[in-house]
Amino acid sequence: MEYSRGVAAPQASRPRRPVDPAAPLAGAEIVVAIGGGIAVYKIAEVVRRLTKADAKVQVVMTPRATEFVGPTTFQTLSGRRVFTDPWDLGQDSEIGHIQIADRAELVIVAPATANLIARMAAGMADDAVTSVLLATRAPVLVAPSMNVNMWNHPLTQKNLATLVSIGTHVVEPGEGFLACRWIGKGRLAEPADIVEAAAHVLAPKDLAGRRVVVSAGPTYEPIDPVRFLGNRSSGKMGFALAAAAARRGALVTLVAGPVAEPDPHGVAVQRVETAVQLQAAVEAAATGADAVIMAAAVGDFRAASEAAHKLKRGELGATVALELTANPDVLAGLGAARAARGGAGPVLVGFAAETRDVVRYARAKLAAKGVDLIVANDVTEPDAGFAVDTNRVVLVDAAGEEALPVAPKRVVAHRILDRVTALVAARAT
Ligand code: PMT
Repeated sequence: MEYSRGVAAPQASRPRRPVDPAAPLAGAEIVVAIGGGIAVYKIAEVVRRLTKADAKVQVVMTPRATEFVGPTTFQTLSGRRVFTDPWDLGQDSEIGHIQIADRAELVIVAPATANLIARMAAGMADDAVTSVLLATRAPVLVAPSMNVNMWNHPLTQKNLATLVSIGTHVVEPGEGFLACRWIGKGRLAEPADIVEAAAHVLAPKDLAGRRVVVSAGPTYEPIDPVRFLGNRSSGKMGFALAAAAARRGALVTLVAGPVAEPDPHGVAVQRVETAVQLQAAVEAAATGADAVIMAAAVGDFRAASEAAHKLKRGELGATVALELTANPDVLAGLGAARAARGGAGPVLVGFAAETRDVVRYARAKLAAKGVDLIVANDVTEPDAGFAVDTNRVVLVDAAGEEALPVAPKRVVAHRILDRVTALVAARAT
């Protein structure tokens, strides 16, 4: 854009402080701009979650918003005086709207009513919220909330499209029973989803445009129509990796065995059941990928044949022999294929679930499977491995070992991705 009419070019955004992708909200200056709708009561939970994540929160409210929930609630939760009136000189001399707009690293607009979205799209600055929004150079995240017919109205959709065209992020409203007693789309997104979207916006995008494949969960190898061979993997580690890679800008394909975990936001998920299905899905996704991370606990064996009908206890006797066939080693196959191409192909990361001599076995797998990095976890530790929310891992590569402290799986995922990001960058050069 040219500034030829005596208008000063806007100053570049303030240089960003270093942001840990595992905790992008920590220390961040976040403005929560509240519009006047019934969903205001849910914003208390948004502010609480943000401050719990160590964000510095400045609440700004429209006059109508204060009629639903008073500023005292938000002042108590944020620890800062709430800004409600740009024309109140007393308020302005303390925390002017320009100052608030300038220091913001992110502005969350929630609930964004149809009226507020329209005023934003029109570039108005007629109250505290729109004044801050027009003055800020920070990214803006809008969480709409309104009646379903207002949401579907072409003018609302056009206004939203205008906001998106200038880079505004949107957390889509949910569907269901609305406060206006209509059923449909228009319910404010859940506070946890709004806060996760905020983290997504603020996280560094050091995997932007990279294609990352993650496998997660167990495989189920059928014995008969009701029984299977499986293992204790819950999918938590792999799902955390997929969500973390998406947060850092990667295009993520998650190949998941049978687990209860919900699809992570912004991730393409393929659900499979057996090792053979997992192999087909991972190999297809790996073509053209920048990295493949195998966190899945792939069953090493399957029944040599699957019985067509339920095996009957009475017909089989006291001892039953089950003949097993080895499953393909998916990761070793990817390693061998890459070696056959002279090393061309994705960064390959494997996990090693061990119960003793963890690092020694992990190093053996690094060589045997021809991969770049093995994440070793001792699955006998109570705070590591299967079906717990934390993990304690050792990163093993050709250069050595790095033991990471026990941490939530979402944090461990980012520390693994720090390595993956460096490996991908090194391969690209
Ligand atoms: O899912 P959670 O409950 O969160 O638990 C996480 C976890 C313990 C499953 C995870 O941290 C983990 O350790 N995953 C790998 C488990 C495993 O199968 O380890 P392994 O040592 O048997 O296999 C080594 C590597 O080869 C793994 O990357 C595995 O995905 C891969 N493999 C194994 C067998 C096989 N037939 N094909 C494979 O590709």
